[in-house]
Amino acid sequence: MATLTAARLASEGGSPAVTLPTPAWPVVEEADAALVAEVVRSGVWSWIGPREREFCTAYADFIGTRFCLGLANGTVTMQCALQAVEVVPGDEVIVPALTWVATAQAAMDIGANVVFADIDPVTLALDPASFAAAITPRTKAVIPVHLYGCMCDMDAIPDIARRHGVKVIEDVAHQHGSRWRGKGAGSLGDAGSFSFQQSKVLTSGEGGAVTCDDPEVYRTIFALKQVGWTPADPAANPFEPLVMGNKYGHNYRLTEMQAALLLCGLKRLPAQTARREANAQRLAAALAAEGGPLQAAPRDPRVTTQAYYSQTLFYDPAKASGIPRARYLAALAAEHCSFGTTYSPVYRSPLLNLADATSPLPFRRDLPQDYATLRLPNTERAVAETAVTLSQKHLLGTDEYTGQLLAAIRKVNDSLDRLRE
Ligand SMILES: Cc1ncc(COP(=O)(O)O)c(C=O)c1O
Repeated sequence: MATLTAARLASEGGSPAVTLPTPAWPVVEEADAALVAEVVRSGVWSWIGPREREFCTAYADFIGTRFCLGLANGTVTMQCALQAVEVVPGDEVIVPALTWVATAQAAMDIGANVVFADIDPVTLALDPASFAAAITPRTKAVIPVHLYGCMCDMDAIPDIARRHGVKVIEDVAHQHGSRWRGKGAGSLGDAGSFSFQQSKVLTSGEGGAVTCDDPEVYRTIFALKQVGWTPADPAANPFEPLVMGNKYGHNYRLTEMQAALLLCGLKRLPAQTARREANAQRLAAALAAEGGPLQAAPRDPRVTTQAYYSQTLFYDPAKASGIPRARYLAALAAEHCSFGTTYSPVYRSPLLNLADATSPLPFRRDLPQDYATLRLPNTERAVAETAVTLSQKHLLGTDEYTGQLLAAIRKVNDSLDRLRE
């Protein structure tokens, strides 16, 4: 009787398998509050002050690039990076169909035409073959997005891009500190774009950064974020003296309070990434041994450090006698084991809906694809049926917490017969 009660699913009125609280995010320590207070008292709150300079220097070093710029968010970072590699209105930019809408919006906002490519069903990241097939004489740039918990193939994508004269702007909003063959994500193309929004693994509430090696790319992005002003010779000094850069610029600055939070977060990041990697590997191994319908995406051996916005997993309804993903995940959620699904295909976002009178796109002529009818098969299947994500904060848990997540999965796997009814 006791066993029967223990096995009763929480969705059937049993006790949830996960009793420990979800690990907190963002992590806040005394050092964060002290440094922000120090900045507040200093009266130097913006205009590329000492904390921003310190952060940019440390972050460039961490990613492995010559330069880093702090910006207001992880969307304007991509707009500026695209402009810095000379994307102009009417050029085509290739974007994976599965990403946050901002990746596509950044290109659209500067007048470029977005061509959506399909994803690799094993990683959910841009499929190199689909990228290659989408290239036309008008293609100027590609944005490989290192999505959730898998990097893009950064051997194949830069190689295809180089052969076609296409610039590579990595969207690293999900994977601060991932490394491909030892090289940081954000150092593998012409520029790397980072978001520091609240849910990201390095955060200041809002904010963004661009990493790059080319001094001219750096000067252009600096001018675009600093109302036209840019360092005269970044190789000598990346922050001053500033000269008018003859570029149309905006105010896309970061504040000193944000830079203070980023400095503190950056100190914690390597240990947090190691913790997430260990927990993700434990989950992957246990799920493989379990052989159930939920399995983790395999780790590509070329990824030498994997940062996780979420762990990428897959649900196979065939291994659960057709139980749909939503029902399986709802049973897990009742056990306080909260897996998510994914973004929607960007081409189906209401923001791009050509029938929607508020969409800016009806005013654009010569769209390269009919977004309203586009259906990319790997993206469609992953979004509708198979892809599952586990948010980064769950991967920060103790061994006991991860053990409880696994116990919840086992409990649901052991009850598939009842779940089917
Ligand atoms: C993959 C991806 N790209 C770009 C962005 C845009 O970043 P932000 O919200 O800082 O503008 C986000 C996050 O929100 C994202 O997840």
